[in-house]
Amino acid sequence: MKILITGIAGFIAFNFAEKLLKQKNVKVIGIDNFSSYYSVKLKKKRIIHLKKNKNFKFFKIDLIEKNKLVKLFQKNKFDEVHNFAAQAGVRYSMQNPTAYVDTNVSGFSNIMSLSKDFKIKKFFYASSSSVYGDNNKFPLKETEKIYPKNIYGLTKKFNEEIAQNFYDMHNFRSIGLRFFTVFGEWGRPDMFLFKILNASFSKKIFYLNNKGNHYRDFTYIDDVISILLRLRKIKIVNHEIYNICSNNPVGLKKVIKFISNYIPKTKIVLRKKQLADIFKTHGCNKKVTRKLKNLKFTKLEKSLLNTVRWFERNKKLFN
Ligand SMILES: NC(=O)c1ccc[n+]([C@@H]2O[C@H](COP(=O)([O-])OP(=O)(O)OC[C@H]3O[C@@H](n4cnc5c(N)ncnc54)[C@H](O)[C@@H]3O)[C@@H](O)[C@H]2O)c1
Repeated sequence: MKILITGIAGFIAFNFAEKLLKQKNVKVIGIDNFSSYYSVKLKKKRIIHLKKNKNFKFFKIDLIEKNKLVKLFQKNKFDEVHNFAAQAGVRYSMQNPTAYVDTNVSGFSNIMSLSKDFKIKKFFYASSSSVYGDNNKFPLKETEKIYPKNIYGLTKKFNEEIAQNFYDMHNFRSIGLRFFTVFGEWGRPDMFLFKILNASFSKKIFYLNNKGNHYRDFTYIDDVISILLRLRKIKIVNHEIYNICSNNPVGLKKVIKFISNYIPKTKIVLRKKQLADIFKTHGCNKKVTRKLKNLKFTKLEKSLLNTVRWFERNKKLFN
């Protein structure tokens, strides 16, 4: 079984590949462009870690480079494609919208078209809770109307529309994954939790947006990966979208209070709400729990503690 994973040097794809490679008869080919949006050192460390497994191969390819992608598809008969590569981040989309259009629209269209042309049986792609915008019909169901509030969310909405169009026009089947604030080991330095951990351990100031009055449906990476591993086993019959969330919105202040017991004292400066930010995310996970049955979610305290302990052991990666 040969599996292509894009954005492999990124947080979610790396964790997914790591678990996948523990299974028998699985070969993973990973691609990434080592975008400098956040620490390339961390991304390279993730790849070094994966390369310890002989069933893993890495190629530095940008989703924009269609010719290279064509050659990769010609050389390898992929059974599955998982597209995680993206220009992520909400606030950065205000400064550099082009990066989002290039990777998340043109790049996405390249990988999806090729997967269709090469008749890939299982195509999964990362969408985002950002497609919901400031919709407050909580918990948000997949059937809710979506009104993204920033360019990042807009590009993810467009991915979903392309995927639906490919199904309608070409019967190309796929699964879209609306991730909600994923956190955990090997996490992202541009996201709230790792930002505060980094500030705390390196004695820097942490700027808390909206004075901490934000709520997020924090979802632990281990739970996300268990869901992804089980979803890849299902038969894909159309274009489906699933919320990947814990259905448990928690205030940032509560998270800070909890982790404060385990980290050095942090100097926190309160800031006003940033324009592109969403006040609260809270997804309904009934669709995925019904599909997969017996899904278990790790207690927030346990997953936060695992993350803090991991960060403490690996803080050098974040300097
Ligand atoms: N982490 C979350 O909470 C979260 C929430 C919602 C959606 N998502 C989505 O899930 C996916 C994975 O997120 P993540 O947290 O692992 O992000 P990440 O930034 O850690 O990973 C994305 C990877 O894609 C690579 N990449 C960027 N542009 C590329 C290009 N043009 N060609 C090839 N590679 C490219 C980056 O170098 C990076 O390694 C993304 O699509 C993201 O938008 C994540």
